[in-house]
Amino acid sequence: MRHIPKSEDEKLLVGLDTSDDAAVYKINEEIAMIQTVDFFTPIVDDPYTFGQIAATNALSDIYAMGGEPKLAMNIVCFPTCLSPDILTEILKGGYDKVKEAGAIVVGGHTIEDDEPKFGLSVTGFAHPDKILANKTAKVGDLLILTKPLGIGIINTAIKGELVDKESYDEAVMAMTTLNKYAKEVIDKVGGVNSLTDVTGFGLIGHAYEMADASSVSIRIDHKKIPVITKAIEYANMGLVPAGAYANRGYVDEFIKINKDVPEYMEDILCDPQTSGGLLISIPKERADILLEELKSTPTRYGIIGEVVEKQEYHIYVD
Ligand code: CO
Ligand code: CO
Repeated sequence: MRHIPKSEDEKLLVGLDTSDDAAVYKINEEIAMIQTVDFFTPIVDDPYTFGQIAATNALSDIYAMGGEPKLAMNIVCFPTCLSPDILTEILKGGYDKVKEAGAIVVGGHTIEDDEPKFGLSVTGFAHPDKILANKTAKVGDLLILTKPLGIGIINTAIKGELVDKESYDEAVMAMTTLNKYAKEVIDKVGGVNSLTDVTGFGLIGHAYEMADASSVSIRIDHKKIPVITKAIEYANMGLVPAGAYANRGYVDEFIKINKDVPEYMEDILCDPQTSGGLLISIPKERADILLEELKSTPTRYGIIGEVVEKQEYHIYVD
């Protein structure tokens, strides 16, 4: 993205420059519009579930800016050799998640392609003062992650037809849970300084972006990270997606991993997440209330680290 010329507009509150989740444009003193798009190839065989996952993932970037999704448009690539019933199921999965989010599907576009792809372009809204960017983490904040990691590793096991039912169910549950529920808790508790969602760059990549944009360093405690039960076993078997190594490469010079951290944990930290959880930066004194309220949400969560003064490295993993 860094080769695209920067757009200059005083109403553009969040643009390309901080690698944030979505663009934010101020309409007036009361309303900011949030815009995002995401689509990808199927990760599971069941078309309805794939539709749900792709939509949950696309909607997430609106929540990750502190907004509420309102309008969604389908983006579809589909081969003529497949039954149109499959496409109907994908779209149904997407439609149901958009509806659960309280938004509406207002159109879309389909092109012919060898491989099916599905996703959404989503427009959401928030009060301009309530935008939760990734550039406002403060020293002394605790970091809370609202879904377990290891989704990319489980997806690799699914592709290799090595996955057990329990891990499949756990990963699908995480990928189809809207970040809406965690975002509602954030609104209720208040005081959150910074927010992003953990997706393709893994926890390490998105934490790096938050640290860099906020001019702070982040300390991650690997023992506290919620992980999908079997992901450790699969990582030890070498079922690690190529994206994890690419992510590791992007951030290598900015991170310092303690030698006591097991190798599988490095894979899990770098594992690209599909429709991952929110990474919340909140002052210490409000964290307990947030954790208490998160009990009402369907996915596992945990305090994974803290924000400290900017040091030599952006991320320290202990
Ligand atoms: Co995002
Ligand atoms: Co995105």
